Amino acid sequence: ALPAPFSTPFSKPPVATKVTSVGTTDYYSMTMREQAAEILPGRQTRIWGYDGVFPGPTIDVQQGREVVLRQINRLPASHPTLGYTPFTSTHLHGSASLPQFDGYASDVTYPGSWKDYRYPNFQGSRTLWYHDHGVHHTAPNVYMGLAGMYRMHDAVEQGLPIPQGYYDVPLVVTDAMFDVDGQLLYDDDDHSGFFGDVVLVNGRPWPVMKVERRKYRFRILNASVSRTYRWQLDSGEPLVVIGTDAGLMAAPQPVTTLLHGNAERYEVVIDFAKYKIGRRVTLRNISPKNNVDYTHTDKVMAFDVVAKASTTSKNSVPSVLSPYNAIMALTPTADTPTRTMALVRQGGQWTINGETWADVEASAYTRALANPALNAVEVWEIHNDSGGWHHPLHIHLIDFKILDREFDRNGVRVAPRAHERGAKDVVHVGENERVRLITQFGPHPGRYMIHCHNLVHEDHDMMGQFSVGEGGY
Ligand code: C2O
Ligand code: CU
Repeated sequence: ALPAPFSTPFSKPPVATKVTSVGTTDYYSMTMREQAAEILPGRQTRIWGYDGVFPGPTIDVQQGREVVLRQINRLPASHPTLGYTPFTSTHLHGSASLPQFDGYASDVTYPGSWKDYRYPNFQGSRTLWYHDHGVHHTAPNVYMGLAGMYRMHDAVEQGLPIPQGYYDVPLVVTDAMFDVDGQLLYDDDDHSGFFGDVVLVNGRPWPVMKVERRKYRFRILNASVSRTYRWQLDSGEPLVVIGTDAGLMAAPQPVTTLLHGNAERYEVVIDFAKYKIGRRVTLRNISPKNNVDYTHTDKVMAFDVVAKASTTSKNSVPSVLSPYNAIMALTPTADTPTRTMALVRQGGQWTINGETWADVEASAYTRALANPALNAVEVWEIHNDSGGWHHPLHIHLIDFKILDREFDRNGVRVAPRAHERGAKDVVHVGENERVRLITQFGPHPGRYMIHCHNLVHEDHDMMGQFSVGEGGY
């Protein structure tokens, strides 16, 4: 039986400890393995986790320190129900990694082997996440538990009075479905998507968190296979968005609801000083279009206000967060090159401009959807004219700025939503929407993936690549 919502205690993922440091490089090691986890009370669920935990350990890094992360694949020889061999490829989502360390889908590590990934960490503070990217099996691999958070800190962020440390809390949100024995059920519904009836936050079903009367900063990651959420507090108080995928926004954006697609990250401040001790506030999901809903998928987690603030330092949200971001400073001119990426279903396969990852494979990995010059600034128009689906589109390597969005091909371009006005690497492209974004292709050449982050679409086969500069292969 499923637990009642808000009966399971909240927990944070463990924090990863480094193996050693040499000069400006920190070394970590993780073993991907199968483990039994008590997700539902009294049941042991088979999961696949980095170091055997789901979500994986949170990695905290400081800008300017490189990380070498050894990923050891000790997964079993086959998936428990789907039967495939769980080869893996680990992607650090949000990092401008070199191509050979970017989790390229076909650069796989088999059970019994390992790979060292090198992460440059020169970018500014941001919320990243690492997850599996193994070709055609990303959805079931991530669903089994191969996902974790990675927080990059910098001096600007650390100098701000926003909540930090203990009050900086990861919320990794997924949905799941369990059989009577408590094992994970998976079915991708003819490659459309997977929607579970249980909402997990940091691997716990609809948890309840005890909070003090002060501000908390939540780093919300939608690590679900397919589900999109729209957050809302039942108290009617705002969620104050301070960060997007690629770091802090220029200014905070208070919103009453927040649409959150797959793989997007939003940093949100909630002020519990507004409530008396004893009050329960719940985070709800006002279901957006194109999802499959169940009895309790409108609930996410609860906060019980139990104590006065034990500290009021780092307890405010200033009106200026991040004064300058080079990507957010870009604006198109008459000469800015423009490309279109059309997201379409063709013959049972999801495609980008009519192409699939199978086409990339068939070309011996040379075929590319685009070949921007190194450091070129371009506008990309993402067209979702297929109807009936939304696609959270992710572009590797770069951060981008959303310029505008057009609904139903009506010729009217509207500004991005308040919470999208920060640097991003995923954009939610709703049914019959066209989104324009601007970016700069760098800082290094190479081939990188672009794909839908509904993982079922990605696996079947809405993924391609672009090649920056010359000699990127
Ligand atoms: Cu979050 Cu290509 O991935
Ligand atoms: Cu999609």
